[in-house]
Amino acid sequence: EQIKKGSYDHFMQKEIHEQPHSLTTTMRGRLKDGGVLLGGLKEHLKTIRRCRRVVFIGCGTSYNAALAARPFVEELTGIPVTMEVASDLLDRQGPIYREDTAVFVSQSGETADTLHALDYALENGALCVGITNTVGSTLSRKTHCGVHINAGCEIGVASTKAYTSQIVAMAMMALAIGSDQISTQARRNAIISGLTSLPNSVSEVLKLDAEMKELASSLIDSESLLVFGRGYNYATALEGALKVKEVALMHSEGMLAGEMKHGPLALVDENLPIIVIATRDACFSKQQSVIQQLLSRKGRLIVMCSKGDASAVCPTGSCRVIEVPGVADCLQPVINIIPLQLLAYHLTVLRGFDVDQPRNLAKSVTTQ
Ligand code: AGP
Repeated sequence: EQIKKGSYDHFMQKEIHEQPHSLTTTMRGRLKDGGVLLGGLKEHLKTIRRCRRVVFIGCGTSYNAALAARPFVEELTGIPVTMEVASDLLDRQGPIYREDTAVFVSQSGETADTLHALDYALENGALCVGITNTVGSTLSRKTHCGVHINAGCEIGVASTKAYTSQIVAMAMMALAIGSDQISTQARRNAIISGLTSLPNSVSEVLKLDAEMKELASSLIDSESLLVFGRGYNYATALEGALKVKEVALMHSEGMLAGEMKHGPLALVDENLPIIVIATRDACFSKQQSVIQQLLSRKGRLIVMCSKGDASAVCPTGSCRVIEVPGVADCLQPVINIIPLQLLAYHLTVLRGFDVDQPRNLAKSVTTQ
C-alpha cells in the first residue's frame, strides 16, 4: 500500500496532487482539430440534440459534478437541464420521459441508488448516458452510450480527481452536443483552448498546499464552516463542504449565495468561518456585495478570488484571501475546488482523523 502511495502519506493527498495528470488523461485524444471527439457518444449526438431535456442523475460528489456542468450544458446546447439526486428521483417516482436524455454520473459505476434510477429511466424509455470512471461497471454496461472519464483508479473514499475529471468530461460532452451551432462557435473555441491549458493551471493552484495547511490550522477548533457560491461555483460550495464534512468530520454547509439573506445571514457572527467564492465571472459584482453584507455583520471571512483581486473583493483588508489562477469562467470550478480539497485534507490530518477511510463511509455505496 505504501508503494502505491509513493511519496504521499495518504491516497486522498496523492489523488489531489495527481490532478494535472488525471485531467490530461481525461482529455487525451479527444480534443481534435479544434473540436471534440467522443467515440462513446458519436452515434447518439443527433438524438441528444433533439431531446426535450437533459436530466442529470447522481449521488454525492458525482451529483455535485453534474451540478457544476449544468450551466455550460444549458449554454452550449440550449437544452433545458434538470437535476436529480438518484434516491430522491426514486422516492418521488419523478417523471422521466422517452424524449429525455438521462445522464448518469458515477465514479464507481456501482452506486445502488444511481443504478436503480438507471433501471427506472430505462423502463420509462429515456436515452441513458453514463459518465463513469470504471470501464466494465454496471453503469457503463447498462447505459445506451457514454463517456469514460479515464481519471485512473481512485482509492480514497473522498472523491477528488474523479470530480474534476467528471466536470471536464461533461464539458467535452456539452461541446460535442453543441458542435452544430454556429452562433456559439467562438465560445466553444475559447472553452477548448481553456481545456488545453487547464492542467497547467491546476499545477499552479496546487502550489497553495502550504497556504491551505496554514488555513486548516486556524480552523481546527471550529465547529462549523459555511461555503457560499453561486452560478458556476454553486457546485464548488456544495462539494467543498461535502469534502470537509466527510473527511474532517466538521459540520459544513455549501450554500447558494443568493439565498443568504433568506435565512443563513442569521448565523453570521465573528466566530463562524465563512468561505465566499468570488472568482471572476458574470456573478462577480453580486459576490462583492455579499462580501460587503457579511463584513458589515462582522463575519469571519475567507474569500477565494482570482489572482490580483484581493483588494477588489476585500477593500477593508479584514478577510483572509485565497487567490487562484483564472481560467475560462465555466471551467473555473475545476480550479476552485482544489484549495478546498487541500483544506479538507489538512483539516483531517490536523484533527487526527482517518483520511482515506472516514468513519461510517464506504467508497462505493452498493446498498439502497
Ligand atoms: C465522495 O467524496 C463521496 N464519498 C460520495 O459522495 C460519492 O461521490 C457517492 O457515494 C457517489 O459515488 P459514485 O460516484 O461512485 O456513484
